[in-house]
Amino acid sequence: MRLTRRVSVAVAAVAALLAATTACSSDGGGTTAPKDVEVFTWWADGGEKAGLDGLVSQFGTDCANFTFVNGAVAGGAGANAKQVLASRLAQGDPPDTFQAHAGAELNDYIAAGQIEDLSAQYQEWGLTNAFPKGLIDNLTVDGKIYSVPANIHRANVLWGNKAVLASAGITQDATSLDAFFADLEKLKAKGVTPLALGRDWTQLMLFESVLISDLGAAKFTGLWNGGTKWDSADVTKAITDYQKLLTYTNTDRDTFDWTDAEKLIMDGKGGYQLMGDWEAADLDAKKFTGYSYSVFPGNGNTFQWLADSFVLPKGAPNPEGTKCWLKTVGSAAGQQAFNTKKGSIPARTDAAASAFPAYQQAAIADWKSQAQVPSCAHGSACSQGFQGALNSAMGKFSSDGNATALQAALVAAASQFAK
Ligand code: BGC
Repeated sequence: MRLTRRVSVAVAAVAALLAATTACSSDGGGTTAPKDVEVFTWWADGGEKAGLDGLVSQFGTDCANFTFVNGAVAGGAGANAKQVLASRLAQGDPPDTFQAHAGAELNDYIAAGQIEDLSAQYQEWGLTNAFPKGLIDNLTVDGKIYSVPANIHRANVLWGNKAVLASAGITQDATSLDAFFADLEKLKAKGVTPLALGRDWTQLMLFESVLISDLGAAKFTGLWNGGTKWDSADVTKAITDYQKLLTYTNTDRDTFDWTDAEKLIMDGKGGYQLMGDWEAADLDAKKFTGYSYSVFPGNGNTFQWLADSFVLPKGAPNPEGTKCWLKTVGSAAGQQAFNTKKGSIPARTDAAASAFPAYQQAAIADWKSQAQVPSCAHGSACSQGFQGALNSAMGKFSSDGNATALQAALVAAASQFAK
């Protein structure tokens, strides 16, 4: 059948109208309100997807008038998602809500005028006292609060394959870098990859853990606000230790995402991996039970934290739907549904630890009692510009091994971005 141009344009217009009305509900007054709520994250697989699914199921109960639309872009730490998001925001095409880390990363969006003030919703939903004060401070600028936190993750965790460790004679995880090097030697002698590692941002995580061991919590925190100098002897020592650690890692690290390094552990080809505690959820989702966990050697009682939060972007197509999503994210039921599957702990202070798997129960106790330091690889410590500069410095060091150049790059990045 051949249609005239005018008829085919009219057919397309009717089809578009029909498509639009399926995404809208009538309010009875002849106007329609959007139903779809596009939630933009990088939680596409494994434990991350399981956590998101938990939240979506609670959203289905709380917000039955709205429809969740999955805008996830795969790639650990948002390596791909953040680029897609930046270009959508620049083009005036925001999703209804997106994932942003509490702290300096969130401040970037606030400073760019890309997200709305949620102070009134905090009052309305009774959230003001639901979260720890320190976290609220990380979400607040000039007295206004801009996002709803879903969780607290811990970054400085060492995961191990228990059977591989036992076969190398390791029965207890090391608590100092020196003891760790000795264990890595034992693993090397067994012919496995002693320390599984991935691309740039996972390298930055490992380096941050070494910095915590060599500088301690207070000086480490000073690296991000100008209080600690990056050209100090402590940082040089950390670079030396990190360089030695790299000799125990897989040489194809720059091509690996965190899940590829995790697979070495699951397959019995790797001994240890430093990664955030989304790994607990991911190993569980993949039904791998033979794992150990401990704080990174030498980090002692330091809890390196980050928090995923959700925002209302300026110009979001469905702000009412977004508010319903945000209310679920901040609710006790939403936080439980999400965090039991995500490996993180609730940001709310009223959650019952007994409802969580063993790993999270330990993390809930540590979060309350340990020294808290932020993460640059996951946006709580540093802006996106600072993070980008450090990721590329780590990636470069991974291939050229030039320690002097690495320290110079760190100093340059800090002089541009640390505040
Ligand atoms: C996010 C986590 C996520 C991890 C790995 C972090 O930046 O905060 O929610 O699981 O990246 O993708």
